[in-house]
Amino acid sequence: MKDFKDKVAVITGGGSGIGLGMARAFAHRGMKLVLADLDKKALAEAVKEFQDGGTEVVGQYCDVSKLEEIQALADCAMETYSAVHVLCNNAGIGIPTSSMNIKLKDWKWIIDVDLWGPIYGVQVFLPLIESQGEGHINSTSSMAGLMAGRTMGAYNVAKHGVVALMASLERELRARKSPITASVLCPGPINTNISRHSVEFRPPREGATGQIKPKVPKSGSAGDKIQAILEQGMQPDEVGTLVAEAIENEKFWILTHPWWTKGIQKELDAMRDDQTLTKG
Ligand SMILES: NC(=O)c1ccc[n+]([C@@H]2O[C@H](COP(=O)([O-])OP(=O)(O)OC[C@H]3O[C@@H](n4cnc5c(N)ncnc54)[C@H](O)[C@@H]3O)[C@@H](O)[C@H]2O)c1
Repeated sequence: MKDFKDKVAVITGGGSGIGLGMARAFAHRGMKLVLADLDKKALAEAVKEFQDGGTEVVGQYCDVSKLEEIQALADCAMETYSAVHVLCNNAGIGIPTSSMNIKLKDWKWIIDVDLWGPIYGVQVFLPLIESQGEGHINSTSSMAGLMAGRTMGAYNVAKHGVVALMASLERELRARKSPITASVLCPGPINTNISRHSVEFRPPREGATGQIKPKVPKSGSAGDKIQAILEQGMQPDEVGTLVAEAIENEKFWILTHPWWTKGIQKELDAMRDDQTLTKG
């Protein structure tokens, strides 16, 4: 897609971080926005920022792990603008988890948000975007979608699934000469509050009652250490620009830290040469 002006972009997790960075890059190119998020306060602040800047925008509360809420998001976009051209399946959470000790409840939460969210997005939005005769679907994976390290088992599974979803989709679209294209974003460390947000949104423990409650992250925890690394990372607005440029230039892979693929090459070499797994 070359011309963004007056086209409509739907961004999940658009209330903060990378999603907000994408929204800024798209608004800069003259797009109309539909921002979706589970965090009502962040969503309202983001909507206000774009309204104040003169961008047409609507915000929709949405839990991407629920098909009916993704459907309601599509209905909101169509009722507001009668069209959708770009979908960014970006909402996500991530906590450090041991593959051996993680509770099934956490497995389900991570897969539901990080993998089912993009699956529902593609299912609901693909026909709407194709009917426009041009458009694009992007999903946010991670470098953890290309190489499975030791500390983020469930997240690695979900993010590998997102890469497979988007690669299969892109190849299918090309094979049937679809007017729309697809891409996958695989960020390295980005300076967002994902670790804090993920702890806040984590479902209550077994036996606890009530809805998802905000929790205060423990200081010195593994999540805290990851957060400290992310604070040294790329700025989310730069990532938003990379995504917009990749859509313009029909790139499939969007890598914020392309030199990290050296580790993936080492893994492939060891696979081919002696069928062992590198340390990661
Ligand atoms: N920050 C990084 O270093 C990094 C690296 C690789 C991949 N990612 C991925 O980037 C994406 C965006 O994360 P971010 O770093 O901008 O974090 P973020 O926490 O700033 O943004 C994520 C947004 O998603 C929203 N969200 C969470 N669960 C949701 C749900 N069920 N339904 C709808 N919205 C929900 C949050 O409220 C938040 O606004 C995620 O998919 C994440 O896995 C981030």
